[in-house]
Amino acid sequence: MRIRLFAVLSGAVLALSALPLSAASFGHVSAVRPVVLTIGHRGAPAHAPENTLASIDAARRLGVTWVENDVQRTKDGRLIVMHDATLVRTTDARRRYPGRSPWRIADFTLADIERLDAGSWYDKRFAGERVPTLDAYLRRVDHNRQDLLLEIKDPRRYPGMVEQLAARLRADGWLDRAHQHGRLMVQSFDAGAVKRFHRLSPATVTGLLGNPPRRDLAADAGWLDSVNADAAHLTRSYADAVHAVRGDHGVPLRLYAWTVDDPDRAVALAGLGADGVITDRADVVRAALARAARTARSRAAVAAHAVRSRSAAHATVAEASVAEAADALVAPAPRTRPAAAPAAHAVPAARSAPARRARVRRAAARHASLRSARTHRSAASRSAGTRQSAAHRTPARHVSLRSARVHHFADHPAHRNSNPTPRTPAPTRPRYVAAAR
Ligand code: G3P
Ligand code: CA
Repeated sequence: MRIRLFAVLSGAVLALSALPLSAASFGHVSAVRPVVLTIGHRGAPAHAPENTLASIDAARRLGVTWVENDVQRTKDGRLIVMHDATLVRTTDARRRYPGRSPWRIADFTLADIERLDAGSWYDKRFAGERVPTLDAYLRRVDHNRQDLLLEIKDPRRYPGMVEQLAARLRADGWLDRAHQHGRLMVQSFDAGAVKRFHRLSPATVTGLLGNPPRRDLAADAGWLDSVNADAAHLTRSYADAVHAVRGDHGVPLRLYAWTVDDPDRAVALAGLGADGVITDRADVVRAALARAARTARSRAAVAAHAVRSRSAAHATVAEASVAEAADALVAPAPRTRPAAAPAAHAVPAARSAPARRARVRRAAARHASLRSARTHRSAASRSAGTRQSAAHRTPARHVSLRSARVHHFADHPAHRNSNPTPRTPAPTRPRYVAAAR
C-alpha cells in the first residue's frame, strides 16, 4: 500500500511541478508562477479605465503579463479597442455629440472617436485618455512585454472584420513565430468567426467564448485550442469533458474561466480543472493562486520526506501524509502531454479524471483507517505514560492542513454561483454562436 500511495504522490508532485511550465509556455516567466494562467480582463479595470492604454500599463505595473481586450470597427473601417457596441458608457460621446444617438461605434469615424475622452467617466485622474486603435494597442502590449487575449467582438455587426483583423495582425508582426508561440490567443463568442480566423492563421491559438455543448466539442476541436467559459456555469464534469478532447494543435483543449474576481472562487476553479482565469482583479487573483500552489507543493514535500524515513515507527503516519498529499494534489488535474507537443501547448503526463478520482477515494479511505488506528495507538501510548515522538507529531501536524484542500472548495455549496457579476455591465453580448459545421 505504501508503495502504491508513494506512486500516486510522485505522479501528483510531477503533475503539479509541470503545471507552472505549462503556464510559462504562454508568456514571460516570472519568479513564482501560479498554477493557472491569470489574464487581466480588459487590462486592469480595477485600477484604470478598461480597454485603454492606461489599463494595460496599470496591468504591467502590477506584474500582469496577459491582458484581454475587445476589438470592434469604426464607420470608416478602422479597428479599435472597446467593449460596448456604443460609445456611451466609456466615453463622453453623449456630451460631445448630443445629436448622434444611439452613439454606435459603427456610426462614427476614427477621427470622431479620437476626440472623445475615454478616461473621465472612470476617474478625473484619467481625463484625456483616448480610445485606442488596435495598432496603438498592439504596439503598447509589445512595448510592455505583455501577451494578448484578443476578442473579436460582435463580428456579425462588422462584415469582413475577421479577414481584416488577420491581415492587420500579420502586418503588425503579431502572426510571426514569436507571437504564435505563446503571446497571442484569439477568441470570440462567435464560433464561425473563430473558425474563419483559424483558417487564415492555423498556428494561432484560438479560444471559443461561452459554454459550448459537450456534443460539439469534438467537432470544434478541429479549429480550437480552448473553451473560454462563463465561470458561473462550470462544473468538474464539464471541465473533464473539455480536457478529454484534443484541440487542433494536438493537446487537450484548455479551459479558461471568466470573469472571476473572487480569489477563493479562482482557487476553487483551479481545483475544478480550469487552466486559467480571466479577471478584473488579476493581481489579487494571481496572488491567491500562487499561495494555493505553494501550499500544495510544501504539503507534498513534507509528505515525501515522511515516506523517505526508514523508521518503522513513522510508517503509518507517513502513509497517512502521503494519502493527504495525494488527495490534495490530484485535484488540480494533470494534463496530458502528446508525443510531440508544440512548445506553446506543452502539458504534463497523462492521467484520466475518473482514474484520478478513484485514486483519491482509495487514498482517502486508506487515510481514514490509518488515522483511526493512529488515534488508538496514541491513546494507548498516553495511558502507558509515554510521550508521542516528535517524529510522529511532525507529519501528523502536516496532515491537519487537509482543511485547505483545493479541490474541496469547488464542491462547497458556498462557492456555487458565487462568481460576482462583472463590475461593468455587459449590454447585449452573444453568448455562444455555433459555427456552421
Ligand atoms: O474574456 C472573457 C470576457 O471578456 C467575455 O465577456 O463581455 O467581458 O467581453 P465580455
Ligand atoms: Ca471581452
